[in-house]
Amino acid sequence: QEDKQESNQHETLRWAARLFHQTLESDAGRAAYAYLVGKRGLEASTIRKFGLGFAPEAWEFLLDAARRDNIPVEQLTALGLVTRHRERNSLYDTFRNRIIFPILTVGGQVAGFGGRTLSNDPQTPKYINSPESAIFEKSKLLYGMHAAKNDIRKQETAILVEGYMDVIAMHQAGVTNTVASSGTALTRYQAKILKRYTSRVLFLYDGDNAGKKSMLAGIDILLSEGLTPWVVLLPGGDDPDSFIRNYGKEAFLEELESEKSSFQDFQLRCYRDAGLMENPDTASKAISAMTKSIALIADPVQKELYLEELSKKLDLSRQTLRKVMASSNDDRA
Ligand code: UTP
Ligand code: MN
Ligand code: MN
Ligand code: MN
Ligand code: MN
Repeated sequence: QEDKQESNQHETLRWAARLFHQTLESDAGRAAYAYLVGKRGLEASTIRKFGLGFAPEAWEFLLDAARRDNIPVEQLTALGLVTRHRERNSLYDTFRNRIIFPILTVGGQVAGFGGRTLSNDPQTPKYINSPESAIFEKSKLLYGMHAAKNDIRKQETAILVEGYMDVIAMHQAGVTNTVASSGTALTRYQAKILKRYTSRVLFLYDGDNAGKKSMLAGIDILLSEGLTPWVVLLPGGDDPDSFIRNYGKEAFLEELESEKSSFQDFQLRCYRDAGLMENPDTASKAISAMTKSIALIADPVQKELYLEELSKKLDLSRQTLRKVMASSNDDRA
């Protein structure tokens, strides 16, 4: 009974994904298509590979299509594709005038959608997503995983970016082992998915402060799940997608090679840039955070080697660092 309902929901999601995609490639999607090709540099094959779509600026586009194709409207409301207007007790399409990004499960089933507005109105949120439901749990999905999983395994590394467009631009540039945590900070559940395919994860979040903070938090999640994090910090204003458009694919690949640093070097750089290492009080807190990360590593050899590295970088004895590590363990208990 429940399985049947779920497979119906997946069918309806697939129906909606196909409709949005066909619309993008039809006359109704002309402006949206021109935006993706002209402003975002996408190729037709990339648009197809990711099944991108368009939801027109209409209140009942999906609703009308559902009536035509005998899709029960209750299913659309359950999936959040249609929203109920409380006061008027009427229904309307959730996604309007938006580029549609179908979000697939690892197995390739449509779980939900992200939608990016084409409007310039600052009141309109840039992105919206399908609302949380049994079928769409954003924190348990990685955007692009279905397309990337084989290459993640082959290349023994997953590259983790923030956004839908970052995944798409990187796959188009040939970096096909890329997935996105989709805005939210990386979750344990997402780390566990990655671990089924690789033990190495390269963070490539936006180069702004929010991106840096999310990478610092993500490092500890990966370490505690037994994965080894690496980091590439992009120049302040860029994300992978804008970097590729601004400087080209070659420069981007070069940047990936030359800017790659260990999680520890990245932590130290962040704390130095923030001025924390300049006085003993804040330095002590920063060092404690770094030893906490090391304490999360299960492998005893790796743990010891990272401790030794840190000892050299800070010019502090391993014995002192071990004490810090032990006392921060006490704090947690
Ligand atoms: P960003 O704000 O970095 O957007 O959010 P972006 O992808 O770079 O946007 P454009 O299209 O290039 O201008 C990164 C990701 O965070 C999620 C989306 O997955 C987005 O791709 N996000 C962001 C949301 O889910 N909701 C939001 O309101 C904002
Ligand atoms: Mn097509
Ligand atoms: Mn961002
Ligand atoms: Mn971004
Ligand atoms: Mn962007």
